[in-house]
Amino acid sequence: MKKTPLLVLALAVAPAFAANQDEAMTALAKNAGCLTCHHIEPGAKGPDGMAPIGPAWRDVAAKYKGVKGAQAQLTATVMKGSSPYESHWKGQVSGLSMPPNAVAIKEADAKKLVGWILALETKK
Ligand code: HEC
Repeated sequence: MKKTPLLVLALAVAPAFAANQDEAMTALAKNAGCLTCHHIEPGAKGPDGMAPIGPAWRDVAAKYKGVKGAQAQLTATVMKGSSPYESHWKGQVSGLSMPPNAVAIKEADAKKLVGWILALETKK
């Protein structure tokens, strides 16, 4: 019985932590300029009603679900940029490739952000 209050506290804190995490990650993405090209939710249009410049992050989560090493691979892509000759989202986005973001975000932060992106649940 002694342990009950701690357990109750942990249960109450967990959702608040998740919400804070969402806020922190959204702020990080905004500050690093990611949200100029990316939406979190699929379906939103880019400038002039064209396809969005980059893939929606919920779509990224769906594409790499269960893929081993996705976090490391995507963190490297975010830092170094993607190759227009090897587009992973051809035809789905209006941007040809992602420029390197190393000037805008630290690698450790990019890794955290990518981890958060990959954990986004796919909308049913
Ligand atoms: C100038 C526009 C632009 C900015 C800024 C940008 N991206 Fe991208 N991003 C793209 C495009 C375009 C693609 C699609 C590349 C492709 O087709 O392979 C992409 C792809 C991605 C992917 C998937 C890569 C893959 O190989 O499937 C992730 C993850 C991602 N971006 C995260 C980020 C993060 C995090 C930031 C901010 C630090 C960011 N992006 C900033 C345009 C951008």
